[in-house]
Amino acid sequence: MTKVAVGADHGGYVLKNRVISTLKDLGAEVVDFGCDSAEISVDYPEYGLKVANAVASGKCDVGVIMCGTGIGISIAANKVKGIRAAVVTNTYMAKLTKNHNNANIIALGGRVISEDEAEAIVRAWYTAEYEGGRHQRRLDMISRAEDENFK
Ligand code: RB5
Repeated sequence: MTKVAVGADHGGYVLKNRVISTLKDLGAEVVDFGCDSAEISVDYPEYGLKVANAVASGKCDVGVIMCGTGIGISIAANKVKGIRAAVVTNTYMAKLTKNHNNANIIALGGRVISEDEAEAIVRAWYTAEYEGGRHQRRLDMISRAEDENFK
C-alpha cells in the first residue's frame, strides 16, 4: 500500500481533509503531519520539512503539502535532499509532473484552488506514471547538483 505523508499550514488547511479522503479513496495509507486548524497561524516550513523528511527517509513513499499558495511550503520541502516538490494548479501539471519530473511531493494552494480542483489534481498525479527514458537523464542531473551543493 502506498504511504502518503500529508501536511499543511493554516493557509492550506482548508484543502487537507479533502486531500486525505481522496488519497484514502485511491487506496493509499495516509500519515497526517498537521496542522489542525485554519484559525491558528503556524509556520509552513515546519510542515513542509516534516513531510519532506518522511519521504526522503523512506518512511513514506510520496507526499502532498499545502499552504496559501503552495509556494512557500514547496520551497521548504525542496531543501531536503531527494525531494522533487512541484507546485501544481491544474490536472495537466499534476499528470506531467509525475510523467516527466517523477515529483515525489505535490504542493497545493488553499487560496489558489478549490477543494474540487485539489481532488482532481491529487487523482491525476497519484494515478499517473513516471515515463523514465530521457527524463531520467534530467533527474540524474538534479541529483548530481544535490550531491555537489547539499553538504
Ligand atoms: C501564510 O499566510 C502564507 O504565507 C503561507 O500559507 C504560504 O502561502 C506561503 O507561501
